[in-house]
Amino acid sequence: LASAPPLALADKYFQLRPDELNPLWGNPCDDIRHRRIWSKSKWCGTLPKVLVIGPQKTGSTALYTFLAMHPALAPNLPSPTTYEELQFFNNNNYLKGLDWYLNFFPPNMSNTTQITFEKSATYFDGDLVPRRAHALLPNAKIIAILISPSKRAYSWYQHIRSHGDVVANNYTFHTVITANDSAPKPLRDLRNRCLNPGKYSHYLERWLAEYSSHQLHIIDGSLLRSEPAGVMNTLQKFLKISPHIDYNKLLKYDAKKGFFCQAVGNDRTKCLGKSKGRIYPPMEERSAKFLKRYYTPHNTALSKLLVRIGRPVPQWLKDELSSNG
Ligand code: A3P
Repeated sequence: LASAPPLALADKYFQLRPDELNPLWGNPCDDIRHRRIWSKSKWCGTLPKVLVIGPQKTGSTALYTFLAMHPALAPNLPSPTTYEELQFFNNNNYLKGLDWYLNFFPPNMSNTTQITFEKSATYFDGDLVPRRAHALLPNAKIIAILISPSKRAYSWYQHIRSHGDVVANNYTFHTVITANDSAPKPLRDLRNRCLNPGKYSHYLERWLAEYSSHQLHIIDGSLLRSEPAGVMNTLQKFLKISPHIDYNKLLKYDAKKGFFCQAVGNDRTKCLGKSKGRIYPPMEERSAKFLKRYYTPHNTALSKLLVRIGRPVPQWLKDELSSNG
């Protein structure tokens, strides 16, 4: 029998089990043996029961804000670096461990009737996210929001441009989305970030490989924009939360902003910041045509997926799949 110092032993272990190099955190409170050895000061009860997964630029912040207004729901504490988004499951924060995540859901954060939720719009298309999320939160309800993938791509381009991104400022949207594989890498990277998350069916299938379709709720992001109260009504039923709130009383259309905002009394509103609902020129006709063709196979697959799991096909998807326009 031979032994070695701890680090050398760990090295040896991972040489033998390279598949275990990437950790997969489970819920320590699920197993009584884990609970017994876990510190008394640790807790799991506030782990989120609802995850809003995005993707980015679909109205995920509006949804987050509307959910946070509900008395039965408590969002995570904000992160000092990424604000309301914790981005735990999709990047290196995951390697900071469960303690790091749980600190955003302290034991006293919610009263007994509240459930906690988290929104990180980067979860939708993160490679490892569905598996990691399911390992920790197998019973969570998952909410995705979808808008026309062409509009999402354009909104992302405008978002990156207004953040001063050099590539987005040097190349037109059309050049970005039509860049081919021999284009310079920064251009291809931006193209991919514009186009890839819009391949909705591909990513939804990955979520459905981990979670049952009953746990997944898909919001039509254009309806959330035009009729948020109706969308929030259906969502509350899906989440089985009470009291049932009439969002017509909480939200008010702000003509100046051009969006629904929180009603704050005296006929006033509190809207999302300037970075949500940006003003930019309409998409060029040729880009719209290109994207419509580009997304046709993905949109067709999405339509089939929605029918398969018994969900309505949103109007924007019908429009994208119609032959005219
Ligand atoms: P634009 O700024 O391109 O119009 P996300 O929060 O996921 O980043 O999405 C941002 C998008 O949310 C905005 O994109 C905007 O169109 C949309 N949106 C939907 N409802 C909104 C609301 N009530 N207030 C502001 N933006 C809203």
